[in-house]
Amino acid sequence: MHTFHTPLDLVRERSPERPVALVRQGAVDLAARWFRKTFSGEVLYAVKANPSPWVIHALADAGIGAFDVASIPEIELVAEHAPDARMAFMHPVKSRDAIARAYFDHGVRTFALDTHEELTKILDATGGAADLNLIVRLAVETSGAAYSLAGKFGVSALDAPSLLLAARRATQDLMGVSFHVGSQCMRPSAYQAAMAQASRSLVRAGVFADVVDVGGGFPSVYPGMVPPDLAEYTAAIDRGFAEMMVHETTELWCEPGRALVAEASSLLTRVDLRKGDALYLNDGAYGSLFDAAHSKWPFPAKMIRAAGDGSSVLKPFSFYGPTCDAIDHMPGPYWLPEDICEGDFVEIGMLGAYGVAMNTRFNGYGAVDTVAVEDAPMASMYGLAPRSIPTPRNDNETVIKLSRPRSKKRRRR
Ligand SMILES: Cc1ncc(COP(=O)(O)O)c(C=O)c1O
Repeated sequence: MHTFHTPLDLVRERSPERPVALVRQGAVDLAARWFRKTFSGEVLYAVKANPSPWVIHALADAGIGAFDVASIPEIELVAEHAPDARMAFMHPVKSRDAIARAYFDHGVRTFALDTHEELTKILDATGGAADLNLIVRLAVETSGAAYSLAGKFGVSALDAPSLLLAARRATQDLMGVSFHVGSQCMRPSAYQAAMAQASRSLVRAGVFADVVDVGGGFPSVYPGMVPPDLAEYTAAIDRGFAEMMVHETTELWCEPGRALVAEASSLLTRVDLRKGDALYLNDGAYGSLFDAAHSKWPFPAKMIRAAGDGSSVLKPFSFYGPTCDAIDHMPGPYWLPEDICEGDFVEIGMLGAYGVAMNTRFNGYGAVDTVAVEDAPMASMYGLAPRSIPTPRNDNETVIKLSRPRSKKRRRR
């Protein structure tokens, strides 16, 4: 991968035609080492957050030896780039063929499930294997998360005991529980509450878990979203684990995606047209900006101009992506110099998670080049940059207020 000192050097040397993923490998390394040191259990990387081969390599080099995979292509990716890694197939709904290929071709032994039907499928597709690790996904409260994943997966507290019992009986190896408190969880106590709920279900089922998997959900930093220190999350999990009815050998696992990769990549896009306060970029909702469009996720943005700085006065812009679809629109607001124009570049930060991962080729767009850069991310949970992103004051409103004509009250004499 070619390295540039800064995104500005890249713009000056190459003026790239296609969008560019700007990769900061050191940020992945630092995040992985932080989790390995601070989390009191095994860390599995949730590949879906960013399946780029460089991410898998950087994590494996930093000592992450286990990966949460959700499909056969993800399994093949990890098998190719981290051949010694252990994989856990944590998608609660899988085809029989995918289960069999994972088990027989790739040596996967850990499977998640949230129904009796899925348990039957796993047992059938593996020929009644006796060496399965079966992880029951529980539905838990997700109101502490900016991106709730509630509703689709997880067995309810009411139905959990019978499924836990069935899973316990089905394997001589590990039986465990997992949950997901929602992505970008802003409340460390959400993990402790979910663990208490898991413990109650285990007690009601009358079984012990060999694994407690607290899932993903660990946050990163975005404009207007400054989470508590990550150490508060691991401390809450330690407290939750201490309060659970588990035995001494029960393993603690987590499956972070976002927190391991969010700050490790940003996206360099070019302004192809300015129409008032809307900038038409060469990447968008069908490319790496899915979350910015569909979830109106607030990403930080910076203008990069080969010829030098732009105006020091910032104003709010929205973005349109390159496809012909009207929903290819990122409302922002993105605060950028008021004189930004066609040919300028915009770096959109904190896009390492769920950025390039969401890319499509709709309308012939979506191809992204990848280069490494050596500057710091726009914000960091690990001390590489400030742990917050200032949200500019809405100067426009101020201007409007100040310049509004005063009401002409007649003075009474
Ligand atoms: C089963 C599972 N584990 C882990 C993750 C990663 O979540 P996050 O990126 O919020 O850490 C996800 C995300 O959807 C998931 O579905």
